[in-house]
Amino acid sequence: MENMQLVIDLHIEGARQGPGSRQATERAIDFAVSDRSIPLEVADIGCGTGASAILLAQLLNANITAVDFLPQFLDVLRTKADQLGVSDRITTLACSMESLPFTDEQFDVIWSEGAIYNMGFENGIQQWKRLLKAGGVLVVSEITWTTAQRPLEIQDYWDTHYPEIGTASSKMKVLEDHGYTPLAYFALGEECWLENYYQPLQERFQQFLARHHHSSEATNLVAAEEREISLFQQFRQYFSYGVYIARKNS
Ligand SMILES: C[S@@+](CC[C@H](N)C(=O)[O-])C[C@H]1O[C@@H](n2cnc3c(N)ncnc32)[C@H](O)[C@@H]1O
Repeated sequence: MENMQLVIDLHIEGARQGPGSRQATERAIDFAVSDRSIPLEVADIGCGTGASAILLAQLLNANITAVDFLPQFLDVLRTKADQLGVSDRITTLACSMESLPFTDEQFDVIWSEGAIYNMGFENGIQQWKRLLKAGGVLVVSEITWTTAQRPLEIQDYWDTHYPEIGTASSKMKVLEDHGYTPLAYFALGEECWLENYYQPLQERFQQFLARHHHSSEATNLVAAEEREISLFQQFRQYFSYGVYIARKNS
């Protein structure tokens, strides 16, 4: 089975496909949106099965365009949105985040949790800027060093897997350099990683391996996830997802 199919199978049943929480999304909403009753056009890019898109639809007076390149995740999102009575507020689009078919200044808010790394933070905030109205707000979470120094083992791991990892101050400089005004930043707490993401993922490993007859591809995928989890447990004081809220300059 092709590796992407395995990745989909491992993650599709998760309430979320990356670290985060309802509380963190709400906290970011409070920084980004001063009045929840104002009508908004929102794009949620790399939305997965809809953890944030559905919450945004529930809490804001907004039309949400939920984008992911995996139609299987969007199918799950639409089923959940139906069940929760918010499907009239969510439009899904199966598309790469690197070639979004939207018009300039289409959105008041661009939201993206745990996904911009797929095209790189700097590239993403540059490319997505044209989609925001002047004064519109970008909310994006990004792997971030939370201290100025860290042990070589975790530095090497992230340098290999995502060399663009940096401190919050370096990310804010990138935002400023590309015409955004940083409004707020916070780091996700441990529960966003462990209780909400890694533990449910680990609980699915055995059934996943059984479904795939312990193939070498499935076993390697689980091993890579286990390594990431163990590095998080060992080095969690040095990195997290940072949530960046920034306004596009006029
Ligand atoms: C770590 S998951 C985060 C999902 C969701 N935002 C969440 O927090 O649960 C990253 C998501 O980005 C999507 N993705 C990866 N590369 C993409 C691309 N080039 N274009 C669009 N979506 C992409 C994946 O399918 C996945 O759903």
